[in-house]
Amino acid sequence: MRSKVLLLSLLAAVAARHPEAPTHSKLRNLPPINAAEFTADYWYNEARAAIEKRSKRDPDQNVARNLIMFLGDGMSIPTLAAARALKGQKLDRTGEEEELFFESFPGLGLAKTYCVNQQIADSACTATAYLCGVKNNYGTTGVTAAVSRRNCEASLLETNRVESIAEWALAAGKDVGIVTTTRITHASPSGAYAKVANRNWENDAEILLDSQDPERCADIAQQLINSDPGKRFKVILGGGRREFLPNTTFDDEGGQGFRTDGQNLIEQWQQDKSDRDLSHDYVWNRDQLMNHFDSPPEYLLGLFENSHMQYHLEANATTEPTLEEMTEIAIKMLSRNEKGFFLFVEGGRIDHAHHDNYVHIALDETLQFEKAVEKAAGILPEDDTLIVVTADHAHVMAYNGYTARGSPIYGLSDEKDTDGMPYMTISYTNGPGARTQVNGIRDDIRQDGNFGENRWRAHVEFPLEDETHGGDDVAVFARGPHYRLFAGLYEQSQIPHVMAYVGCIGPGPHAPGCNAATTLHVTGLVLLLSVVKLILL
Ligand SMILES: *[C@@H]1O[C@H](CO)[C@@H](O)[C@H](O)[C@H]1NC(C)=O
Ligand SMILES: *[C@@H]1O[C@H](CO)[C@@H](O)[C@H](O)[C@H]1NC(C)=O
Ligand SMILES: [Zn+2]
Repeated sequence: MRSKVLLLSLLAAVAARHPEAPTHSKLRNLPPINAAEFTADYWYNEARAAIEKRSKRDPDQNVARNLIMFLGDGMSIPTLAAARALKGQKLDRTGEEEELFFESFPGLGLAKTYCVNQQIADSACTATAYLCGVKNNYGTTGVTAAVSRRNCEASLLETNRVESIAEWALAAGKDVGIVTTTRITHASPSGAYAKVANRNWENDAEILLDSQDPERCADIAQQLINSDPGKRFKVILGGGRREFLPNTTFDDEGGQGFRTDGQNLIEQWQQDKSDRDLSHDYVWNRDQLMNHFDSPPEYLLGLFENSHMQYHLEANATTEPTLEEMTEIAIKMLSRNEKGFFLFVEGGRIDHAHHDNYVHIALDETLQFEKAVEKAAGILPEDDTLIVVTADHAHVMAYNGYTARGSPIYGLSDEKDTDGMPYMTISYTNGPGARTQVNGIRDDIRQDGNFGENRWRAHVEFPLEDETHGGDDVAVFARGPHYRLFAGLYEQSQIPHVMAYVGCIGPGPHAPGCNAATTLHVTGLVLLLSVVKLILL
């Protein structure tokens, strides 16, 4: 009983992070949403028109064999500016002049992140935009906006389900992998493989909590292991073991499973690969992962925590691989396919640290994410690999005050507020870091017991259990073939269509170079055949 109560409160705690958004309400007399936006066609056509327009000014003839999307969850533009200052300051420089590795990419644009029913997005609707090329409703993944949150039946209708760029890549014979620091069933990575009416349906218990039938609408973990395209992914690395294990079992580090259907999906994944005679392994700590570094199996499932992976600043280095290490092994595995690959890599906990106003951790997670991008770019040649680095949505972290050049980014502003109280160069509009005020005057933050520590909460304007996302645009950086197509300001849902155009995959338009690439292969084949013929003669 106690464990059930614990489980339920844990589930409730999970749900609290991104509170239920009030739906677009006629009562509030808002202007109507264009009904065409509820269809996939609308967003496909919007992207197609944009590609046609922008490609007129794009002389590039190369195409991309490999496609990588790096996603910094909640990596707002002020987060980039602050992380870059931190990077420089760690090297004893002033910092503001520093550059994050991917900030040197030649392609740079801005993406609009709103979703169909919500001005300020969550990670589920944005994942549908940047992985499936369609905008939809807050809290839903892999389905159109015709599916309202929790509507299991609507999510089953074929017309409401959308394919991800991972599916387009597989259809073209490429390999696919997903890597994240969050639970692998969390909103962002789920966009690559799940079609679900509620992002919280990571296991069957969550579906039952919403009075829906998990037999009818499979949970996200179930979809990853037993459905297409998830069961064809070559490499899957992240956290979230609890979503795959029965609540009657405990994982290798003692964490309890969350499933109530008795299924052990980790064993099912292993069994499926065994049945098909495929080399594979399941790993749950860093040592086991590193043992595979020199010759990884064909399929690899790594789940390094019961829930999310630890923050890098707090992680146990023997149990937790870094994002950079996971990225490197994933690339090693996927590079074995000569037709190329699609890889999704998420620095997923920048977002979580921001939600807690843990600015030290948010910026450190951003620098960890940067390392993973740098590693990938160092391995893969620029002429056949398109790397896109972006964020799903912003946060309300503010980089403010008139502080002197080179001031510590985590430090105090040179100025004081009108009550004579110090404030920080970085603060937030809202979140749990709100202080009680005495006579309308803010506390002196310097008196906080943990001032300057990793889990010190930056001060905020108004109290909330969790700091919120922001509605501002996010940056899109691109390196590789057709990087110019990522310049401009556009809908976030265009991103996978542009990547597919450059990678010659998916149902939309393909770059002119795609034909040349095919022709080359055909010519090569014809040549080879004539040589064989000559030898035979
Ligand atoms: C597992 O879930 C079932 C169904 O909700 C419940 O009856 C059982 O008490 C749970 N077991 C544990 C150990 O939490
Ligand atoms: C890290 O994890 C290992 C394995 O669980 C444990 O033996 C070790 O004590 C941990 N190290 C720290 C610093 O917590
Ligand atoms: Zn968030």
